[in-house]
Amino acid sequence: MTPSRPIAAWHDAGPADVAPAGIACRRAGDTRLLIVRDAAGQWFAIASECSHALLPLAGARVRGSAILCPHHGARFDLASGRALGPPAWTGIAVWPLRLAGDRVEVLI
Ligand code: FES
Repeated sequence: MTPSRPIAAWHDAGPADVAPAGIACRRAGDTRLLIVRDAAGQWFAIASECSHALLPLAGARVRGSAILCPHHGARFDLASGRALGPPAWTGIAVWPLRLAGDRVEVLI
C-alpha cells in the first residue's frame, strides 16, 4: 500500500502589505514562514529558519533575488530555496504563492 500524502491547499498568509525588498513573518495553516519581496517586487514564500543552524531568518536582508541570513551570512535563492554559498549547503523550503485581492495565499 502506498503511504498517503496530505493534499496541498492554499492557505491565507495575511495581508499583501509587504514592500519591495521587505520581509514579513507569517503563518499559513500550521506553518511558520516568511513572505518576501525582492527589489523588483516579486513575491516569495520561504522557510522561516536558516538551514545552517536553524536560526530564524527574520531580520534577513534581501539582496537581488536572494536572501542573506543575518546570523552567519548564508545566502539562499528566493525562487528555489537553493543555498548559494557557505556556511549553508542545504537549501530551505519554498512554497508557491499567489495574491488574492489584498491577501497573500501560500500553497502548502
Ligand atoms: S544560521 Fe544562517 S548562516 Fe548560520
